Amino acid sequence: MKIVTVVGARPQFVKAATVSAAIALQRKQGADLEEVLVHTGQHYDPNMSQVFFDQLEVPRPKYNLAVGSGSHGAMTGKMLGAVEQIIVEEAPDWLLVYGDTNSTLAGALAAAKLHVPVCHVEAGLRSFDKRMPEEVNRILTDHVSELLLCPTRAAVSNLKNEGVTRGVHHVGDVMYDAALMFTKVADAPEVVLGRYGLEPKGFRLATVHRAENTDDPARLEGIVSALASLAEPRCPILLPLHPRTRATLKSGGLLELAERNPALRLVEPVPFLDMIVLEKQAQLILTDSGGVQKEAYFHGVPCVTLREDTEWVETIAAGWNQLVGADRVRIEAAVLAAAPGRPIDEYGSGDAAAKVVALLQSKDG
Ligand code: UD1
Repeated sequence: MKIVTVVGARPQFVKAATVSAAIALQRKQGADLEEVLVHTGQHYDPNMSQVFFDQLEVPRPKYNLAVGSGSHGAMTGKMLGAVEQIIVEEAPDWLLVYGDTNSTLAGALAAAKLHVPVCHVEAGLRSFDKRMPEEVNRILTDHVSELLLCPTRAAVSNLKNEGVTRGVHHVGDVMYDAALMFTKVADAPEVVLGRYGLEPKGFRLATVHRAENTDDPARLEGIVSALASLAEPRCPILLPLHPRTRATLKSGGLLELAERNPALRLVEPVPFLDMIVLEKQAQLILTDSGGVQKEAYFHGVPCVTLREDTEWVETIAAGWNQLVGADRVRIEAAVLAAAPGRPIDEYGSGDAAAKVVALLQSKDG
């Protein structure tokens, strides 16, 4: 059985690493499985892309489409044409995609048009906000997929509400697999913390990259001013900056505000193996990323989410996560109120990737 996997953005390299490892294990045990990896090139800066392949042992992509940045339509369109050609050439049994990026949609659409079945890992997640490009990508991808592999029960029920029940399975979260798998191989905490000049549990960690925050000057200012006022010498805030965020801080005149307080430490995007250690060692995480909200929970760290909605509703229900948007006062109040919550039982036990591969095999032919 041949699987063509399409990835392109930072979190997809991590998710694909878990499933690629499960495929490799099956192959070692004699299964007839081949995976061909396609990197769309949506993320192309070395520390947004190459470092993940170097560290996570994801198989090297056979194809790199190098689409780079562009408007959503231009980017998705370029990928669509290129993935189509690859599918024709490779004639796979499955097309595998992850999450909700433009690379996900392009891969799924190209395959569906060629009648190649699509397997969507992280199916069913919804923010119910169609202004988010990711929400459009998710809905469309789910509706052309044959195998919809959900990380949570809420995701299964979202699909049911849209009339999608065939091929839907709750397999757990491959990001939980990744957290377990890579914690084992990450450097020791003191080594990682030493690289950033931080103390165990002596700092907060923040990430901001969503278009809804970076492309709205009022929201970005609310977030940056909250971070600048919360950071203090005895508990600094580490803020690894996505290139998009750095660019909009600069063009919006906010970089100065961010740099005024030296306890707010702006650094380049960090490799995933450092990130999981930083997450685990942080006192608190502030983020607008989906993955980081959950990783906070995996590592037992309370989270403040800088968005109006979340796809990971169970983190809120269990008390680990607070949704506060981009308002400075709300962010500051949530940081004071943050505390650990109750266990969540739906992300699986680190076996989500194995279930993904088993389902792909069971549907073969
Ligand atoms: C994309 C996903 C988002 C995901 C994120 C993970 C979509 C619609 N969004 O967002 O869901 O959470 O990846 O990180 O697919 N840039 C660089 N170098 C890079 C990559 C991006 O400079 O390697 C800059 C470019 O100016 C680019 C901008 O960042 O235009 C945005 O990149 P893009 O890939 O469009 O979306 P992300 O914000 O990374």
